Amino acid sequence: MKLTLIGNGFMAQALAKGLIKNFEIEIIGRDESKLKKIQETIPNIEIKVLDDLEDISNKNILFCVKPYALQSVAVRLTGEANMLISILAGTKLDSLKKQIKAKYYIRSMPNVAASVSKSTTTVTGDKEAKNVAMEIFNFIGKAVWVNTEKQLDIATAVAGSGPAFLALVAESLSDGAVKAGLERNISNELVQGLFEGFSHLLVHNHPAIIKDSVMSPGGTTAAGIASLEEGAVRDSMIKAINSAYDKACELGQK
Ligand SMILES: NC(=O)c1ccc[n+]([C@@H]2O[C@H](COP(=O)([O-])OP(=O)(O)OC[C@H]3O[C@@H](n4cnc5c(N)ncnc54)[C@H](OP(=O)(O)O)[C@@H]3O)[C@@H](O)[C@H]2O)c1
Repeated sequence: MKLTLIGNGFMAQALAKGLIKNFEIEIIGRDESKLKKIQETIPNIEIKVLDDLEDISNKNILFCVKPYALQSVAVRLTGEANMLISILAGTKLDSLKKQIKAKYYIRSMPNVAASVSKSTTTVTGDKEAKNVAMEIFNFIGKAVWVNTEKQLDIATAVAGSGPAFLALVAESLSDGAVKAGLERNISNELVQGLFEGFSHLLVHNHPAIIKDSVMSPGGTTAAGIASLEEGAVRDSMIKAINSAYDKACELGQK
């Protein structure tokens, strides 16, 4: 199956790196020099500069531009695609349908872990295209079907933006170790191992169980948890997810 990615940015490249192992990949962008550089890093992809009137008839499109660029790119697309899969944060199916012609429409929210085939991707849209869309995103991690766009917008905040939130946690844990006197390279290595081990634990255990199993009475973890609660980390995380969700809704209204 051939997939045509429109847009050649960070996410398009992350998706292409994972998908090239199972699909024919074409990337269409507006800057030939950028496309050529991408082709050097991801062998076997086809590249194409976006025509003034780009014929997308019968193609399976993965739409990967920024939400604000939807309109300016859409006016250059002619013909009816077979399937349009959008990864645009917030952008509603209705808005896609009004601007780009396709038989089937899917909204998805992958994350940057697609490049290492570990993206948990939320998917919604036309049921007729569900199986194909799920197959595509299961190939680069795990696809989760949701029935409403509201669910997808909430998932955007957790799974789409999540890597940035966790990067902040990882960086600050390492900073804490450095502040206490540990070398940076050792601190980073410990944090990497921590996330790796924790991700396996989380598959089988509720977070509260993991916390309680480490937190002995009057111990070091209890002291650390008390500091985190003082800094309102839990409240900040809840607010971060809600702010990201609000932003997705705001993008959807434009
Ligand atoms: N970053 C994430 O973690 C993430 C996760 C899930 C979903 N998303 C969604 O993925 C989409 C792309 O995000 P990104 O992080 O990959 O952004 P990015 O790196 O900035 O890439 C955006 C792409 O859109 C192209 N573009 C922008 N304006 C255009 C225009 N007027 N005409 C033609 N092409 C245009 C850019 O072309 P040039 O290279 O020529 O500028 C670039 O290829 C967004 O809609 C975002 O909501 C992002």
